[in-house]
Amino acid sequence: MSTYVELSKLAKIYPTPKGNAVIVRDFNLKIQQGEFITLIGHSGCGKSTVLSMLAGLSDISEGGIILAGRELSGAGPDRGVVFQSPSLLPWMTAYENVMLGVEQVFFTASKAERAEIVEYYLTVVGLGDSMHKKPAELSQGMRQRVGIARAFALKPKMLLLDEPFGMLDSLTRYELQQVLIELWRKNKITALMVTHDVDEALFLSDRIVCMTDGPAAEVGEIMTVNFPRPRERKAVMEHPDYYQLREQLIEFLEVRAHRKPSSAAPLKPIVPSEKNLINPA
Ligand SMILES: Nc1ncnc2c1ncn2[C@@H]1O[C@H](COP(=O)(O)OP(=O)(O)OP(=O)(O)O)[C@@H](O)[C@H]1O
Ligand SMILES: [Mg+2]
Repeated sequence: MSTYVELSKLAKIYPTPKGNAVIVRDFNLKIQQGEFITLIGHSGCGKSTVLSMLAGLSDISEGGIILAGRELSGAGPDRGVVFQSPSLLPWMTAYENVMLGVEQVFFTASKAERAEIVEYYLTVVGLGDSMHKKPAELSQGMRQRVGIARAFALKPKMLLLDEPFGMLDSLTRYELQQVLIELWRKNKITALMVTHDVDEALFLSDRIVCMTDGPAAEVGEIMTVNFPRPRERKAVMEHPDYYQLREQLIEFLEVRAHRKPSSAAPLKPIVPSEKNLINPA
């Protein structure tokens, strides 16, 4: 398969009075069409920075991004973005909030066609009975369902999600992971999602991209996740590879994330030297 999205030598550098603050440097990643990628790394390493350059919400300092054969510059409806909270207009219903974007993107479609799109996506995220409620009348989980429906309804080439379930309790999070992955599967959309949650990454991803710590964060390691799809949470967790992959991710975050891959020497095994041994006598 050919590359659909390519991030090449991507960098984010902020000039400061004390010199340049290099947040991300030499970030390289190739994504195939329809892949689900998660980006994982320590808080502050630069995950949102990479995502917002992809979204066109933050300038690229060095390098570039190609999506579907075109170099990106600025934001556009070809990329759908879902953040931790969906920023809905409070005076509009869920339906009207989703319609707002649909009207802009599908301006040549008929009114009935647009209504059909909005109703379809709100129904598949589970808001069939609540689509005419305003955000204040919806729970946080329901508001995030609106955010997901809105992103898919615009039929973007790529979906970018920045910890979309970070504010939700674990049961709601599980439900919405299922909603998201079903929509992703049916729409065959290319997705990049930032998460802190190792289990979420293992459940959703085709590949997990682990970032090293900043400053000058880069891709540390990429883990391929081959659990068969469609995935059942229970089957994934009972898969013979699950715990090994989970351990590897945690080990990366606890140990290897702190080292730069370009300069990393192999880890030395920790062997107690004689003077460290407690004299048993
Ligand atoms: N305008 C700015 N000027 C200088 N540094 C900035 C600016 N904006 C963000 N940063 C720095 O960039 C770094 C990366 O931030 P980013 O939000 O991308 O991290 P993150 O990996 O998404 O963290 P988290 O997991 O907490 O969301 C941080 O150290 C932050 O302080
Ligand atoms: Mg972030």
